[in-house]
Amino acid sequence: MSQEIVVRAQEPQDMSDITELLNQPRVVWGTLQTPFTSVAARVKRSEAAPPGWTPIVAVVAGKVIGQAGLNRLDGRRGHVGVVGMSVHDDFAGRGVGTALLAALTELADRWLGLRRIELTVWTDNAPAIALYERFGFEREGLHRAFAFRDGEYVDALAMARLRT
Ligand SMILES: CC(C)(COP(=O)(O)OP(=O)(O)OC[C@H]1O[C@@H](n2cnc3c(N)ncnc32)[C@H](O)[C@@H]1OP(=O)(O)O)[C@@H](O)C(=O)NCCC(=O)NCCS
Repeated sequence: MSQEIVVRAQEPQDMSDITELLNQPRVVWGTLQTPFTSVAARVKRSEAAPPGWTPIVAVVAGKVIGQAGLNRLDGRRGHVGVVGMSVHDDFAGRGVGTALLAALTELADRWLGLRRIELTVWTDNAPAIALYERFGFEREGLHRAFAFRDGEYVDALAMARLRT
């Protein structure tokens, strides 16, 4: 991408841009988002986020066009972080997901000292699986009929990246 991608912490004023990006058809397809979710609903959800949640955004030309987060679990799973990410449909395939995942893996490895990062991804989401494998995530198993998507149930891959 010719324009610079800035990755930073998510701030309250980002919610309008984040709502637009999370309502994109391809983002809804690839995640557990539901179409037509309002800014108010997003704000409420964001305020109810778990204490281990670190949300970050990617900004291009002053607009938030990517969002991702790492949720550090607690207790005997305190060594684990769960990752999720989305890029605005108009900006997919231009390195934004790579920038977001680089930031989250650095946070996990170098600042939180996490041993394991895990995620789930639909088995037919080839670009996402390719991105995760590039960062060392491996396929661990299959969740059958994991979620309902566009009129049918979809399977999900369990993937994780372990630091030794
Ligand atoms: C998945 C997603 C986060 C990736 O972000 P992105 O900004 O498009 O990612 P990047 O451009 O950094 O990299 C995408 C990689 O997928 C590759 N790719 C694109 N289409 C592909 C395809 N059909 N099959 C395999 N790989 C593909 C690209 O070539 C690129 O790899 P490369 O850098 O080695 O060339 C983004 O597309 C997205 O938000 N999709 C919708 C929501 C979603 O699916 N989120 C993930 C939920 S688990």
